[in-house]
Amino acid sequence: MSATVVIGTQWGDEGKGKIVDYLAEKADVVVRYQGGNNAGHTVVVDGQEFKLHLLPSGMLYSGKICVVGNGVVVDPQVMLQEIKAMQKKGIDTSGLRLSNRAHLIMPYHRLLDEVEEESRGDHKIGTTKRGIGPCYMDKNARCGIRVCDLLEPEEFSEKLARNLEAKNHLLKAVYGVEGFDFETVKKEYLEYAQQLRPYIADTSAILNDNIKAGKKVLFEGAQATLLDLDHGTYPYVTSSHPIAGGACIGAGIGPTKISKVVGVVKAYSTRVGEGPFPTELHDEVGNHIREEGHEYGTTTGRPRRCGWLDGCIVRYAGYVSGIDYMAITRLDILDKLPKIKLCVAYKYNGQIINEYPASLNVMSKVEPVYEELPGWQEPTTHIRAYQDLPLNARRYIERLSEVSGIAIGMVSVGPGREQTIILADMF
Ligand code: GDP
Ligand code: IMO
Ligand code: MG
Repeated sequence: MSATVVIGTQWGDEGKGKIVDYLAEKADVVVRYQGGNNAGHTVVVDGQEFKLHLLPSGMLYSGKICVVGNGVVVDPQVMLQEIKAMQKKGIDTSGLRLSNRAHLIMPYHRLLDEVEEESRGDHKIGTTKRGIGPCYMDKNARCGIRVCDLLEPEEFSEKLARNLEAKNHLLKAVYGVEGFDFETVKKEYLEYAQQLRPYIADTSAILNDNIKAGKKVLFEGAQATLLDLDHGTYPYVTSSHPIAGGACIGAGIGPTKISKVVGVVKAYSTRVGEGPFPTELHDEVGNHIREEGHEYGTTTGRPRRCGWLDGCIVRYAGYVSGIDYMAITRLDILDKLPKIKLCVAYKYNGQIINEYPASLNVMSKVEPVYEELPGWQEPTTHIRAYQDLPLNARRYIERLSEVSGIAIGMVSVGPGREQTIILADMF
């Protein structure tokens, strides 16, 4: 049995797409289990860049089964666009399977995401405005529309009519904007249904059959630990469960079937959107990291907030997901820095605290306790063996491993598949 879950340990954009693509070579099945097209996973193959929002990063190899699980919220328009873009690039999409239990993002979800954000004013979350939160709200309120409904036009029409009645009223009465026409939305979605039909399946059954048959299954987390609805910096989070446990619910497999958890750790921190970020840098070094790392959002193009690596957060991610190995990415972005800081604890009201606080009020006031380490100031992008990394680079990541209590499994020194150093077996 071999099922590996890859998750983000920070605020997203750690390089999960690159790591999943690398590991996908050896996998038989690659699965997305939560989130939607709020994700932006960039994969570079032979210098060609692919940006995936909804489809699993395993798509870039032919012959894999790629699953969009029940826990994902699916904007059918985006999914079809992504499928067509892949086909245009000569990629075989016949292995794609879409869960019949996944919830659909509807046009009113996207509009609600926009008007709700506007109405929050200074308290805005900074969402991607893709309709993710409103779609999960409907799922939890038990009025969502699922992929299986697309295959039953009468069922779909009845659910759409009920939803439109409520949503159009809400949009008009609370937000003062026009809602949607029933016939137009119905026609649009039933057309999507015809195009998506070949991909729709009971994906939990497929996954469990594959696991039983001894196939290698790889779960691709989107977003990250600190954006998890329960375990992140609530309310500045996404509306799903990116942590490893989310794979069980979002794919329909039991926890006993997961054999390994890999946590992707960016060698520094970034965050898109609002919310506390104790190690954020507002100085030259922050700007250097942003420019050196091209830290602008894959999905929205927003400049990412940049800061030092927070060991407390990585340790926390380690225990909420039971991480076996870290995959450290973007080490090369720090190549030019003379000094590097690692946060090992926080100070609050003169007291040292080791845990990341639940209270946002406390979190926004903590002071990071840093250890300063010497930089290596030499290029690393060509290195392929751990012992060939500069001594100070190894010292930095080994100190992170001590602080977080998590072993180092992989180190990435560039976006390309080949720019990867392997220290342990990830399956
Ligand atoms: P994800 O959302 O976690 O998949 O990450 P993103 O794709 O949004 O952002 C990570 C970016 O870093 C992408 O542009 C990757 O191609 C790139 N990348 C991944 N690993 C490395 C690395 O080790 N070094 C460098 N320089 N870039 C990397
Ligand atoms: P990947 O998978 C970084 C952030 C948004 C916002 C918050 C809520 O590429 O790592 P949402 O639209 O989900 O309701 O927004 O979550 N966010 C991400 N930040 N990477 C992502 O995905 C993100 N997906 C959502 O910026 O702060
Ligand atoms: Mg991303």
